[in-house]
Amino acid sequence: MLELQALSYHPATAAAPVLHEVSLQLASGEPALVAGRSGSGKTTLLELISGLAEPDGGQIRWDGEPLTARQRRWLCGLVFQFPERHFLGLSVGQELRLGQRRFDSQRASRVMEQVGLGDISLQQAPERLSGGQQRRLSLAVQLLRDPRVLLLDEPTAGLDWTVREEVLALLLELGRERALLIVTHEPELFRGVVQKAWRLEQGHLLTMPPDAMG
Ligand SMILES: Nc1ncnc2c1ncn2[C@@H]1O[C@H](COP(=O)(O)OP(=O)(O)OP(=O)(O)O)[C@@H](O)[C@H]1O
Ligand SMILES: [Mg+2]
Repeated sequence: MLELQALSYHPATAAAPVLHEVSLQLASGEPALVAGRSGSGKTTLLELISGLAEPDGGQIRWDGEPLTARQRRWLCGLVFQFPERHFLGLSVGQELRLGQRRFDSQRASRVMEQVGLGDISLQQAPERLSGGQQRRLSLAVQLLRDPRVLLLDEPTAGLDWTVREEVLALLLELGRERALLIVTHEPELFRGVVQKAWRLEQGHLLTMPPDAMG
């Protein structure tokens, strides 16, 4: 169980706190969502959880134990809002190998199949994939790491309807065996996937009842 307790983030350059005493609990097998308008702090929240940024107050714990940023980077897999900005490999194959101590090519094929990229050549350059395919590749890279906590930033942004249905089915499957947190400005799409939902408003995290999900 991942727990955020009174997490605050107030960078010196921001007039008001971006996040103000945000608390939530995220259990494996109980997918959850945080909604909020553009600029409400959704991406910032994921950066704090995943250890890319340090909170100014509060704690992040796993099964009761406080976590350092380094431990969070290891525990969490973050699929970025704009994955294309974060590719480092020259090919899809290289991208999959990054961060893997021992590369299991059979497992990599299975994961590529799972995210619907079974037909993509590993020699292809990541930049040559479509936006939706890049998002799936980025998810495949994280699934290969098999993180206990999977964090997805706007996973359906820029996907057309046919692909969205597939992605939602995949998320439902992924959320069964790990902690899964989705941040999105279109919560209504995830009604069948998540069991818990919150909304970020002016730095505060408010519980969102299921019937408020649109
Ligand atoms: N280090 C920082 N210094 C100053 N302001 C910051 C910093 N980090 C985040 N912010 C501010 O926090 C606010 C929230 O940004 P964030 O990217 O988390 O929003 P978001 O909800 O993900 O938006 P979007 O839906 O557009 O992706 C923005 O106003 C941003 O400028
Ligand atoms: Mg964002």
